[in-house]
Amino acid sequence: MEKFYKQLLDNNKEWVASKLEKDANYFERMANGQQPPLLWIGCADSRVPANEIIGAEPGEVFVHRNIANMVIHTDMSMLSVVDYAVNVLKVKHIIVCGHYGCGGVKAAMGNQSFGIIDNWIRHIKDVYRFHHKELDLIQNEDERFNRFVELNVQEQLYDLAKTSIVQNAWENKQDLMLHGWVYGVHNGLVKDLNLTMRNNDTLSDVYQLDFLD
Ligand code: CO
Repeated sequence: MEKFYKQLLDNNKEWVASKLEKDANYFERMANGQQPPLLWIGCADSRVPANEIIGAEPGEVFVHRNIANMVIHTDMSMLSVVDYAVNVLKVKHIIVCGHYGCGGVKAAMGNQSFGIIDNWIRHIKDVYRFHHKELDLIQNEDERFNRFVELNVQEQLYDLAKTSIVQNAWENKQDLMLHGWVYGVHNGLVKDLNLTMRNNDTLSDVYQLDFLD
């Protein structure tokens, strides 16, 4: 068997042994179910592992990751994760976490075609279009890239707030906060964008849903 591949299975056995050494009932407890207080929506980038960044153990964070941490309201996978997290697990926090140096966001700034992913990236280009006045004024390309990453998180956060799932939870007085973060792959630090949302008041009127009783 290829060495790299075999190593993965060996690593797993070591990991199990180390967990059991500290707590003989560890996996019994895990098998009893999960009650994470947090949903993480992050980038698929291998450098941005949700649990490690926030020091969370297995069972403490429900995770959805895709390219460039997008919240696209026709994405059944994302909607299903959010619905389960909000309505079954009753998470109290959802963090949308982007990261500086995001390849998806970088691709959206340029014109090169990368294949089918162009159609996913196009949602990020829409974010550029919404904010082109601010972004075009930033001369330094790295600074423009960093700001674009932040604005993308902001728009994904708003798109999350616009979902019927989140607005329904707020309508029902469910305690649910949405937060926007950007992670620095260069220093490991999280920047809280201070965009926390607890209700739909800040959404444009056209997005505020009324629910039938
Ligand atoms: Co990324």
